[in-house]
Amino acid sequence: MMTEHTSDTLIQNKKEVPSEFNRIAKRYDIATSLSQGYQKDLETSVERLNLKGNEYLADLCCGTGKSTIACLNNLPEGKVIGIDNSEGMLQAAREKLIQKFSEDKVTFVQQDVMNLDLSEDSLDAIFMAYGIRNMPDFEKCVRNLHSVLKPGGKICFHEYSISKSFVSKLYWKFLGNFLIVPFAGLTTGSTKIFRYLIKSVETFLSPNEFTELLKKAGFENVKHTPLESWRKPILHTFTAQKPQ
Ligand SMILES: C[S@@+](CC[C@H](N)C(=O)[O-])C[C@H]1O[C@@H](n2cnc3c(N)ncnc32)[C@H](O)[C@@H]1O
Repeated sequence: MMTEHTSDTLIQNKKEVPSEFNRIAKRYDIATSLSQGYQKDLETSVERLNLKGNEYLADLCCGTGKSTIACLNNLPEGKVIGIDNSEGMLQAAREKLIQKFSEDKVTFVQQDVMNLDLSEDSLDAIFMAYGIRNMPDFEKCVRNLHSVLKPGGKICFHEYSISKSFVSKLYWKFLGNFLIVPFAGLTTGSTKIFRYLIKSVETFLSPNEFTELLKKAGFENVKHTPLESWRKPILHTFTAQKPQ
């Protein structure tokens, strides 16, 4: 029988994901820096949102703030609220960004993205990198995000999503089991969250399925575009807009 809290079992319940991130929070930035192009890909996805530069944006599942930095780089006159449910990841984000940005430019709050404490029609834009896949109910989450966006508000998901093709699935299995799990596990001292990552990508929606889900939730101008280089078959930017 599986016990839930030993480091060598797979995460069974997505509610455990943020606490697992607590364990690796201090080493998350080193682990992701081994992944060539990680920060540049985040920047590319934020650029695909075509922001004006003065928006109020929520960076959901902001982690240690790598995605928040990408957002801030595109918001010279805007503001960001970074939201995550891992205290450890948020602490790392605060420590990193506090020296560079004032509190009226960026704030971080601990919240469950499935139960956001944000008013309806309150955000100009949402960015969510490597987050939607961790939600226990994708459809409910997307509907909630639609409601907190202002009419005309924009949303961007930066996420691993593999097509139904055998080759894409095999490519992900190879990358995951032979590169991500061993190297990220060695860097952070725990393979649990990375083995969960592999599984959660395998069970996430394909690009076409996620696009359909966004349309069903009421978004328009829904588009998915792959990132470049070795991530092309597996990593996508999904952009969409709430109708005016
Ligand atoms: C892979 S990290 C992504 C961090 C960051 N966006 C980046 O691009 O580097 C995923 C983050 O999602 C957070 N997370 C997972 N489930 C969550 C939930 N239900 N509510 C809020 N945060 C959650 C985790 O704590 C973790 O920090």
